[in-house]
Amino acid sequence: MNWNLAEAITYYRSQGTDQTTLVNLLKEIQQESGGSIPLFTLPQIAESFGVKENFLLALIRRMPSLRLGDTHTLLICAGPNCSKHRAIAEAALKLESKKLSVSFVPCMRLCGKGPNIKWDGKLYHQATPQLLEKLMKESGI
Ligand code: FES
Repeated sequence: MNWNLAEAITYYRSQGTDQTTLVNLLKEIQQESGGSIPLFTLPQIAESFGVKENFLLALIRRMPSLRLGDTHTLLICAGPNCSKHRAIAEAALKLESKKLSVSFVPCMRLCGKGPNIKWDGKLYHQATPQLLEKLMKESGI
């Protein structure tokens, strides 16, 4: 089963809005993201917990066990339908760098809308190499 940011936020939010719960959520995000908390997760967490992003940044800096990352993430559906569009995977692998983590994930269950990708947690349908380049530029990579 794939870990899902929105589901994790929903779960922890249901446990309360205290700082301990928030730190536990951040630790899980860090663990599931390969050792650092991706920047793109902060707005969603802040909104769900009713706090400012600056509060989250201060909390992360204050906790030695938490680390803020600066890497963007690209998840590419490797399901049977989306993987027919090899140009996406080939383009993504050429773009992979210290600032962009590329991973292939099982079918996203939106096969009719493929090829599907997730860029920093946001889902895009009918992805093209041009879309990847646009997302890279918008992210300053
Ligand atoms: S194959 Fe990509 S969503 Fe199913």
